Amino acid sequence: MRPTPAPLALALSVLAFAAQAQTADNPVTGKALFENTALASGNAGLPSCTSCHGSVEARRSQISGTGDSFADITFDTAMTRFTAALATQPDMRPLRVLTNQQVRDIAAYIADTPKTTPESESQLNFSAALNGNSAAQTVSLKHSTAVSENLQITSVAAVGTGAANFVLAKAGCEGVTLAPAGTCSITVTYAPTTSAVSTPDLVFTMKQGASTTTFERVLFLNGSIASTTPPATDSGGGGALGLGWLAALGTAVAALARRRRA
Ligand code: HEC
Repeated sequence: MRPTPAPLALALSVLAFAAQAQTADNPVTGKALFENTALASGNAGLPSCTSCHGSVEARRSQISGTGDSFADITFDTAMTRFTAALATQPDMRPLRVLTNQQVRDIAAYIADTPKTTPESESQLNFSAALNGNSAAQTVSLKHSTAVSENLQITSVAAVGTGAANFVLAKAGCEGVTLAPAGTCSITVTYAPTTSAVSTPDLVFTMKQGASTTTFERVLFLNGSIASTTPPATDSGGGGALGLGWLAALGTAVAALARRRRA
């Protein structure tokens, strides 16, 4: 008989509770901690992050490795890099007095750049019959929270192979200006009029405040043709591959080849 894993269940419920208790990571508090670390943390004499790092944008471009100050840095990446720096940078040693929550709030601020849901670089899979329509999928974009500037979404487009097989209902985002923490949404439908491989990128282009420099969030669209008849069984050995196989192979190869660097 299987033993009842009561201690594990208990541990998991404690973990779930801890995870819940931590959802309050606050980039606004993190901004105050970043800019005036001593005052905001209640530890007189601590140097501020800005005294060595200038701006949070400089840290984001350093962490992303792309030089992009609006880079899409996840909270987890920000936590990993910041806690590693606290542990290893002699100059940052005095900052080890920060509480766990203060560290998390600072990481939330470092990660506070525009984010899509599903997150950028996700692949969205669609299936529809030729000349049919897939179910629509929603993609939303949320502006940063701890900013004073608005975010202008200058374009939303499917770009690349088979882009014409996707229909974007994009008026909710394209040309829209989001206030801090504001969100917009679009829907994507796959409506293939050709059976060509359809693997374009979904590109949101935007700029913040008065800046003329645009930046992007990119997701990967992947449309496949739903077969209406079961594939013929290939009993002859070495016979022709069904078209479905070819399409699937083409899609897989394209997916491998497509990782696009903005
Ligand atoms: C006294 C100077 C000093 C202060 C104050 C300081 N840092 Fe650092 N920090 C450094 C140095 C030096 C490095 C290593 C070189 C680099 O990444 O620029 C570093 C590295 C980092 C990294 C690692 C970047 C990466 O590429 O992984 C992060 C994140 C970071 N600091 C965040 C912070 C934050 C947040 C604060 C404020 C709570 C802070 N630092 C305060 C000196 C400082």
